[in-house]
Amino acid sequence: MSGQQQKQYIVQPGGKLTGELRVPGDKSISHRSIMLGAIAEGVTQVTGFLEGEDALATLTAFREMGVKIEGPEAGRVTIHGVGMNGLTLPENALDLGNSGTSIRLLSGLLAGQNFNTVLKGDSSLAKRPMGRVIDPLAKMGAVIGSHEGKLPLHVQGGNALYAIAYELPMASAQVKSCLLLAGMYAKGKTIIVEPAPTRDHSERMLAGMSYPIEVDGNKITIEGGGRLLATDIDVPSDISSATFFMVGAAIAPDSDITLRHVGINPTRIGVINILKLMGANITLSNEAVTGGEPVADIRVRYAPLKGIQIPVEQVPLAIDEFPAIFIAAACADGQTVLTGAEELRVKESDRIQAMADGLTILGIDATATDDGMIIEGGTVGSGEVDSLGDHRIAMSFAIAGLQAGGTIIIKDCANVATSFPNFVELASTSGLVLDELDG
Ligand code: S3P
Repeated sequence: MSGQQQKQYIVQPGGKLTGELRVPGDKSISHRSIMLGAIAEGVTQVTGFLEGEDALATLTAFREMGVKIEGPEAGRVTIHGVGMNGLTLPENALDLGNSGTSIRLLSGLLAGQNFNTVLKGDSSLAKRPMGRVIDPLAKMGAVIGSHEGKLPLHVQGGNALYAIAYELPMASAQVKSCLLLAGMYAKGKTIIVEPAPTRDHSERMLAGMSYPIEVDGNKITIEGGGRLLATDIDVPSDISSATFFMVGAAIAPDSDITLRHVGINPTRIGVINILKLMGANITLSNEAVTGGEPVADIRVRYAPLKGIQIPVEQVPLAIDEFPAIFIAAACADGQTVLTGAEELRVKESDRIQAMADGLTILGIDATATDDGMIIEGGTVGSGEVDSLGDHRIAMSFAIAGLQAGGTIIIKDCANVATSFPNFVELASTSGLVLDELDG
């Protein structure tokens, strides 16, 4: 994985974002297309697949479990599904790199197989909590060993799984999806209750592949023993990647950018709602539905932003977008307050601390709290910040350059390749002055 090779970004101050572009495919949907395509009956053709390291880690894991997968080539992947019980014992431990989604979803799927697996990842993944999936899976009868709730995970196969009714202790689409996948292998009806809506790509894709699943408000029911039927999947562009350009255009005078064919699933559009509340000029056009997921072109034109209290119900709907939203807040007039976002502390890095530290270095008054941040809008300066190997922290500080008073150096940026391999190229074409250096 690229984490071995150090990279840094050098961002020159100023500029504006203009033009039209298409950012890469949605990471969450790309992972799910491989997982469900692999255990479906028939051939699944995926287009718009994200050729980033995280989704490729999922793809490789399924190849290692005997699934024939062609591509990716220009976003096209062909998966020859092996059916619900067709996966085979991998020779080695499965290495999921930096990808929390891969490991958490796979733990549920693998608990239902008749062979043992070992799941491992990089140093960031090794710090992240896995008890949130191990505990409910154990209630279903799964046996998963770990190192005090952390990697590596030893998933024992051959155990009968039983349906449970489970109230999620936190708003997490990864935990929900893990249990949906395990629920497909369990005897009976698994019921999952969410404390707040989270991304529902698994539910949509399961239904799209004809698997019986019921959604009733915050309650999801799935019955074990069903079949998945292969279908074509068109992956929309990732709103989480589009976010860096949306925020960039929102903070840089004279910007006018259009992002094509972006997924606007209602469980993912917190960033649009929050930026609009801050005064951003965002319009949607060409709205359509593709493969059960809504998409649109998103146009953002510069308009002055103001600080806000971020509505707590928007938090799970924008959970991956807060590093970039903090940059918008730093450039806004007045105070922005985020609460109810303690989940940010257990992402690829502790995103509350990493962003508060970086913003402080850049001269912004940012105070980390247990579950969020208080940011006083001000003037972004210059300096050297550390992304801590977190892709979204790296890209967020890169777009801050548009409003910076001097050069921003960002350390440890190689993991941008996990979600947005052509970020530097697209950002440079759109107007950000950015160099990538080794070391
Ligand atoms: C994801 C769910 C979210 C999100 C992650 C992708 C998914 O994680 O942060 O980037 O694809 O299900 P949590 O479930 O931990 O909130």
